[in-house]
Amino acid sequence: MRNEPAIVFPKRDFSRVPYAVYHDEAVYAAEHEKIFKGPTWLYVGLAAEVPNAGDFRTTRLGETPVVFNRGSDGKVHAFVNRCAHRGAIVRREPYGNAKDHTCIYHRWAYDLEGNLLGVPFQRGVNGKGGLAPDFDKAAHGLRKLRVEDYHGVVFATFAADPEPLVDYLGPHHARHLARLFAKPVKVIGYQRQVLYGNWKLYNENVRDQYHGSLLHEFITTFGISRVTQNGGAWMDPRHRHSISWSEEGSDSTAEANKLYAEAKVKQGVVRLHEEEFLDYRREYPDKVSITICSVFPNVTFQQIRNALATRQIRPKRPGETELYWTLFGYQDDTPDMTRHRLLQSNLAGPAGLISMEDGEAVEITYRGTVRDRDAHSVVEMGGGGAIPTDVTIKVSDIPLRGFWSYWAELMGYAPEGAVR
Ligand SMILES: [Fe+2]
Repeated sequence: MRNEPAIVFPKRDFSRVPYAVYHDEAVYAAEHEKIFKGPTWLYVGLAAEVPNAGDFRTTRLGETPVVFNRGSDGKVHAFVNRCAHRGAIVRREPYGNAKDHTCIYHRWAYDLEGNLLGVPFQRGVNGKGGLAPDFDKAAHGLRKLRVEDYHGVVFATFAADPEPLVDYLGPHHARHLARLFAKPVKVIGYQRQVLYGNWKLYNENVRDQYHGSLLHEFITTFGISRVTQNGGAWMDPRHRHSISWSEEGSDSTAEANKLYAEAKVKQGVVRLHEEEFLDYRREYPDKVSITICSVFPNVTFQQIRNALATRQIRPKRPGETELYWTLFGYQDDTPDMTRHRLLQSNLAGPAGLISMEDGEAVEITYRGTVRDRDAHSVVEMGGGGAIPTDVTIKVSDIPLRGFWSYWAELMGYAPEGAVR
């Protein structure tokens, strides 16, 4: 018998989303079993964050604490950051370098592949006590995750028999990550923020191009991205992930101004002192200047012109989500390029000129829906029905329906005849 309430999607095309999905404690608990420990691949970090043997970082996948490190075999390993003895968190630091991981509670020690190395007083004291002679250390390591490194991006899964990562990503996302990580990267900073809202509201936000130039006035005021530019969204064949994209210089300013004036969006009323911080220094073979690439369920890869980052989504409870931003550039960047990326990174992040409002959008949606759990949102901008893999308009809710379609399938809530 399941403890979760009945979650009913009233339409088979997921154009109506019941508000209970954001608030219910039992749904949230089930998400950890069915999604975070289910068949998904989860973003762990960048291989460039642990370049040398013994380099480690701690993270959370869902709420499960995880360590990843570079082993003495040169590979990245990831395991649950929880001592096999009593369940205490073994590695409490955010990052470091170590030869082993030792729990402070009773000093059980594990190697860089998560194997149990040693147990203090294993043979007892003066021949008394200790563990049974047949205690099998090999069976009491840290729980290992299956890890795959795709162009330096580290993903892991709890699934025993997952689909291959490249199939999970699908062709658009595999190609896009190969583009973004074509050269060796270097990390240039971190940012963290807490959103007082459900983790899925953030997944919707990053799949939602409709709001971009409406919520974020900075975008239209300074012409960074406009709905009149070439752009849209690509999805994987299962529609669980999305990449929204825009191309520089593909529209006319007059046409854009007319549309935005009709939508009562302010334009051209203020000027920046240092406009060059917004410059796009083209660095890919295509003209695509903005890509927001989201992989179900816990990551977004951001290219806002030259500001590059990964955003890891770490749920803490139904109404609280931590976002963990890793800013990166390429190893062959000049100091000037690194400075440009860092300046331009002021666009995004907790106080970002074009992302600060996303936190507010998540929070007002969370608060607005808290006591009407059977009511639902209306997610049909761009049309309902079947979900296309290539969305050629920028004003659409279509990738949100893809997200919900996969979420509902994993959770067991998909209605009869649901679209995929
Ligand atoms: Fe936004």
